[in-house]
Amino acid sequence: MAGGRRLAAALLGALLGALLSAAQRELRFRPAPAEAPVRLFTEPELARYAGQQEGQPIYLAVKGVVFDVTSGKEFYGKGAPYNALVGKDSTRGVAKMSLDPADLTHDITGLTEEELKSLDDIFNNVYKAKYPIVGYTSRRILNEDGSPNLDFKPEDQPHFSIKDEF
Ligand code: HEM
Repeated sequence: MAGGRRLAAALLGALLGALLSAAQRELRFRPAPAEAPVRLFTEPELARYAGQQEGQPIYLAVKGVVFDVTSGKEFYGKGAPYNALVGKDSTRGVAKMSLDPADLTHDITGLTEEELKSLDDIFNNVYKAKYPIVGYTSRRILNEDGSPNLDFKPEDQPHFSIKDEF
């Protein structure tokens, strides 16, 4: 009886060993998955990701960077406390900790030093730390009149690699 159990254990060990080495071979020869490409979002395109439809990802832009905040559904989903922030660039609201519809805009005109510092803190320590970047708002690259936004520097963007097409 004990011998039978030892044999079963040995067989199981051999089987696991074979499976593991097959898995290792598989991993070694498979090319690394490419990073998901980033996208450019117009306002109507971003508005499609406001958490209203079940199963649709939820996107929120801060400082023109579009984050996938689907994993924070309890904050941003339909009926959740910060749902008003999503589907748009809510930079001003995040800087001022305000959900007032007038503040749910990319516009940072007239913010105080303290609000700008708070914005950078939340941008770096909440959004960049917690959520994947899926793209940029078109406004970050072009001004409203179609002229280039001279403040936009691709090389400063997170995830940017000089070999990637932007
Ligand atoms: C009475 C008022 C508020 C209370 C008690 C409150 C409370 C909280 C708490 C406890 C968290 C952390 C949750 C966690 O990490 O598990 C949080 C996160 C957050 N709060 Fe508030 N909050 C308030 C108002 C606001 C307002 C007005 C805004 C407007 C923008 C705001 C924006 C945020 C954001 C952006 C996060 C980060 C969510 C994330 O991790 O994705 N909060 N809040």
